[in-house]
Amino acid sequence: MTREKPKNLWLSRWGFILAATGSAVGLGNIWKFPYITGEYGGGAFVLMYLACILAIGIPVMMTEIAIGRRGRGSPIDAIGRVVRESSGNPLWKAVGGMAMLAGFMILCFYVVVAGWAFAYTWKMLDGSLAATSVDTLGQVFSQHNANPWQLGGWSVLVSLLTLAIVAKGVQQGIENAVRWMMPGLAVMLLVLVGYAFTSGGFSAGFDFLFSFDASKITGEALLAALGHAFFTLSLASGAILTYGSYIPDGQSIARTTFVVALCDTSVALLAGLAIFPIIFANGMSPGAGPGLIFMSLPLAFQQMPFGTAFGVLFFAMVSIAALTSAISMIEATVAYLNEKHGISRMKSAVLAGGVLLVISLLAMLSFNLMAGWTPLGKNLFDWLDYLTSRWMMPLGGIFLVCLAGYALRDEIMRDELGLPPLGYALWLFMVRYVSPVLIMVVFLHALGWLGFDPVTEWYWIVGAIGLLTVLGEVLRPRVLPVLAGR
Ligand code: PFF
Repeated sequence: MTREKPKNLWLSRWGFILAATGSAVGLGNIWKFPYITGEYGGGAFVLMYLACILAIGIPVMMTEIAIGRRGRGSPIDAIGRVVRESSGNPLWKAVGGMAMLAGFMILCFYVVVAGWAFAYTWKMLDGSLAATSVDTLGQVFSQHNANPWQLGGWSVLVSLLTLAIVAKGVQQGIENAVRWMMPGLAVMLLVLVGYAFTSGGFSAGFDFLFSFDASKITGEALLAALGHAFFTLSLASGAILTYGSYIPDGQSIARTTFVVALCDTSVALLAGLAIFPIIFANGMSPGAGPGLIFMSLPLAFQQMPFGTAFGVLFFAMVSIAALTSAISMIEATVAYLNEKHGISRMKSAVLAGGVLLVISLLAMLSFNLMAGWTPLGKNLFDWLDYLTSRWMMPLGGIFLVCLAGYALRDEIMRDELGLPPLGYALWLFMVRYVSPVLIMVVFLHALGWLGFDPVTEWYWIVGAIGLLTVLGEVLRPRVLPVLAGR
């Protein structure tokens, strides 16, 4: 069988690493990671999160990149090709379709949150955040959301910037944008950590992030860590798979994955090191929830020397991080329309952008005009978040690892990953037995269907992994050829 020729490739060796890190590093790292770390009590949560990145995030990311590169196309097409090469069932393509849809749906609410970051960069500059209490800043935030023109205007701006970059293509658009945005982001972050270092709260912030308190390890926190590992690495949403399809042959997938995961984790930790010292130095609470960077932080900046300048820098950094993630969410759809239906990238971007604008504006109206429209108890914004993070990402993750671990011919992943035998065996063990069980646990827990506590009753998880391993290794070689009709 002849391999599909790539139509697009990253120009430089760093192309994929910059673009994938751009996708991974986003609101998840700078907005969500600090506040969930705050809510779940600091160091213990950080440790669980790191364990999840290693045990699930890295194997799943390697799988996505390998399938993308082997199949050379959008998630649906790439999965279609690797499955055909394995004489498997073409229905697996639905997993690609679901991932693509998940990426698109995430984008529809992500542009609203990204719009907050853009708006706050501006508000920091024009003095509208010059309030004296967190309550007043809370009111500023509510007023911003209550005005559909303001809220919608900023999210439309983010959508248009995203589309303009993606329309220009993989090298001219995406690679060009991330080539200067990612180093810029790194510099801004380091400057902010340096600033936090001088704030007087650095040791309190450092202790909070890294001092370990075993009593804080709870089932709830573990599950939040696992869910966040998926979101922060942009897994099961088409982004990494599509970016992977542009990697030249011969570049090591394992090494690349480690670099991206390491960069993503470092940014999350550095963002924590930039934010918590400032929060502590000003006597605020780290557990302020989703409003942490929009309500507490602007006040803290105001109480510090050169605070306005650093506040602008902070929100500009969040905006850039959000933009490089947003472009990756729509790339799968644009690549699909372009490749499958022969529509030019420009037209594909306009088409996808039209749908994005309609849905994201409806999601934005959840905060104001349509606040009362809550079918089945949630507004549209919450539905998009709920469906993607609770259902589509975990299910997509399980299907992806099962596809790679069970349905594809062994040589495909062996060739693509190019790992030494022990490394390959470890990857296979993870995707066949460990990741599916762990993801299933998160999934069931999120639905309230898990009948045990995953921390105190961890032996159920270990038992399930053990049982699956035995069944898989003993029965699989007999059962699979029959199922596959070989
Ligand atoms: N990883 C991004 C973040 O942490 O903000 C979110 C994300 C990007 C999710 C791309 C999904 C995706 F396809």
